[in-house]
Amino acid sequence: MITAHDYPSALFAERAGVECVLVGDSLAMVAMGLSSTTQVTMEAMIHHSLSVSRGLTHPFLIADLPFGSYEVSPAQAVSSSLRMIAEGHVEAVKIEGGWEMEDTVRAITRVGVPVLGHIGLTPQRASQLGGFRVQGRTAEKVLPLLRSALALQRAGCFAIVIECVPPAVGTLLTQRLSIPTIGIGAGNGTSGQVLVQNDMLGMFDGFTPKFCKKFANIAPEAVTALSTYRDAVKARAFPAPEHDYAMEKGEEKKLQE
Ligand code: KIV
Ligand code: NA
Repeated sequence: MITAHDYPSALFAERAGVECVLVGDSLAMVAMGLSSTTQVTMEAMIHHSLSVSRGLTHPFLIADLPFGSYEVSPAQAVSSSLRMIAEGHVEAVKIEGGWEMEDTVRAITRVGVPVLGHIGLTPQRASQLGGFRVQGRTAEKVLPLLRSALALQRAGCFAIVIECVPPAVGTLLTQRLSIPTIGIGAGNGTSGQVLVQNDMLGMFDGFTPKFCKKFANIAPEAVTALSTYRDAVKARAFPAPEHDYAMEKGEEKKLQE
């Protein structure tokens, strides 16, 4: 699984043969320059999901329900999910939270919308967690994670994202569940993995978390290309003759008259 936030990033995922694409609310940072996922609206998520959906044929498409769009009540979560499907053209939704979201997951799945869970480090709740911290570092703290994972499975989640836990925890949760787990910073014992596409492509020069391997380094290449372009324009080396369009035969001469 990989994130996408627009048409080109969706095309990259499609061509690479990635099986699942997530329109993560991480688009707050990677596409909108916001400082937190809590600042993303339903409208922005729908706008970006729709663009992503146009680039995909094969991958299963999931979108995050943004902060504030599903926590008030199961009914609110159902109407946001239905909007995301109808207006964002995705196939499933992801919500953050554990056992306390059991009724909500049940309500969403009951209307026919598949739900992806998300436990461990849940960025929408980072303030409550005391920041972006590794979760489940003591056996005692693994217990509520397991309880949450089992509750989400019971409620009907088709899979669960597990973020930022030690590998032993990712592996244990995966072994105790019958549904797949998708890890991010959770070791290689989960059923699958997810990364934020912009981060793993090195599109972003700013902070990237420890768990994100940069599989490419696009940002410096983009800056180099842009500054080369800028210099070429100033030096009148661009455009060159091969970029020019010819006038019809004999017509150029008439311009002098
Ligand atoms: O918003 C996001 O991109 C996510 C994934 C990293 C799991 O939630
Ligand atoms: Na997210």
